[in-house]
Amino acid sequence: MQRNKGSFILVKRAAPVRRWTSRPSLWRRANVLAAMAVSIHLAACDQPEASRAVEPAVDHALASRGPQNPAVVAEGKTIFRFDTFGDQTFWTDTLRMHEVIRTSVSPNTALGVGLKVDAEALPPSVVAGIQDKSISLDAPATTVALLKLGAVVGVVGEVDASNTLTRVGITCALCHSTVDNSFAAGIGSRLDGWPNRDLNVGAIVALSPALTPAQKAVYNSWGPGKYDPRFNIDGKNIPVVLPPAFGLRHVKRELYTGDDVVSYWNAYVAITQMHGHGHFVDARIGVDKNNPPDLVSSKLDPLREYQFSLEKPAPVEGTFDAHAAQRGRAVFNGPARCASCHLGDVLTDVNAGRLHDAAEVGQDPVYAQRSVTKMYRTTPLRGLWHPPQLTGPYFHDGNAATLEAVVNHYVPLLGLRLTTQQQADLVEYLKTL
Ligand code: HEC
Ligand code: HEC
Repeated sequence: MQRNKGSFILVKRAAPVRRWTSRPSLWRRANVLAAMAVSIHLAACDQPEASRAVEPAVDHALASRGPQNPAVVAEGKTIFRFDTFGDQTFWTDTLRMHEVIRTSVSPNTALGVGLKVDAEALPPSVVAGIQDKSISLDAPATTVALLKLGAVVGVVGEVDASNTLTRVGITCALCHSTVDNSFAAGIGSRLDGWPNRDLNVGAIVALSPALTPAQKAVYNSWGPGKYDPRFNIDGKNIPVVLPPAFGLRHVKRELYTGDDVVSYWNAYVAITQMHGHGHFVDARIGVDKNNPPDLVSSKLDPLREYQFSLEKPAPVEGTFDAHAAQRGRAVFNGPARCASCHLGDVLTDVNAGRLHDAAEVGQDPVYAQRSVTKMYRTTPLRGLWHPPQLTGPYFHDGNAATLEAVVNHYVPLLGLRLTTQQQADLVEYLKTL
């Protein structure tokens, strides 16, 4: 991995090996050495040509071309929505969340911390009961009933014959799905891949009776729509905005920091964050977590196919000014120079092998420093504006609350000379992406 005029060369693995799944460590070391050899070779050439030569990430390219197999996509959808990878051992046995839920989390409490209810999982009798208020949304027993129906998005509960919640676990959908509010606020059809920006993950985890006051204070400091996926690894506390899992099929490197391909991160989160069972190893960030048996590796391919099937949502008429957006497109591609980094159809230069120093894009370097690359990936702009679910904040740590704030960030950073009208038009264009 080499720095090259503020850009970053992504070094291809020596073989299409997933270093994040369980492998004999000798094989892994050989692989790292081979990658180092490639990188030494590149240092000698240090040409943009060389950076192209080491692209693309093999497994991503294979997966993103050609038609998708609907059966594999369907399998991945079930995994995305309902698979806990066995993480009940953490959420139940360690955090004892089942005790908290059954005694003190009513549906209204759950909705209040941003959890969502899948209206399609509710039988007509329950729908009627909620409507005529014979089913109370203030009773924890109702939450247990909803869990039994599989209706709490991203939370899987096991309920025994006497309606006691005995086990609880989480799925990918917890953070990366929301609902369309078609039944009521927080209750509707699932929108997979949409980040749940109402979800206060930290406040939910902090309900656990197994945590120290110091740990609870950190979790309670995050607020809705944010999560720190490295806190339990390095002890630092820099939560980032929950990103969408849609619109990634043609993006070669994932994460705010462009660390690796989608399955790399899926395995990382499933094993180190959700506490599912499997083996995740990445020497680049000093992580080696083994929690047998492996319930993750065999699911990564269908899970990836499902994510790649998730398109970004189309902009909704009436939520932006179409004429201004048309003018804003010319500003984006012209005087605002946005397209110099937000390139091509996916609006990112990461496919061209470029990442950016924090200073170059006016961002705080501290989150990037915890990553593999230490740099920021140009975010593939997608689904930026879809009220009420998607209305910001923007940038990895959410430092721009609105799209206006995004533009205000770039004007001085890039020394742009834009009229007030051009800036407003640019904002309207961003709403259509
Ligand atoms: C507790 C919340 C949480 C859960 C559960 C979770 N994620 Fe994420 N996910 C995040 C956060 C936060 C990031 C951003 C991390 C970063 O970029 O550094 C992220 C990033 C991603 C990305 C990269 C998005 C991009 O723009 O590059 C994908 C894809 C993704 N997650 C998919 C999944 C899948 C699949 C699962 C289940 C295995 C999962 N996530 C579980 C919080 C979560
Ligand atoms: C030098 C490269 C570069 C240029 C030029 C650039 N961007 Fe970005 N952009 C980035 C990077 C890198 C990020 C990720 C920063 C972060 O998350 O902290 C980003 C993030 C964003 C985001 C946040 C997306 C999200 O979901 O959080 C928006 C919106 C955006 N840029 C719009 C623009 C606009 C509008 C312009 C032109 C005025 C522009 N960018 C110019 C590199 C660039």
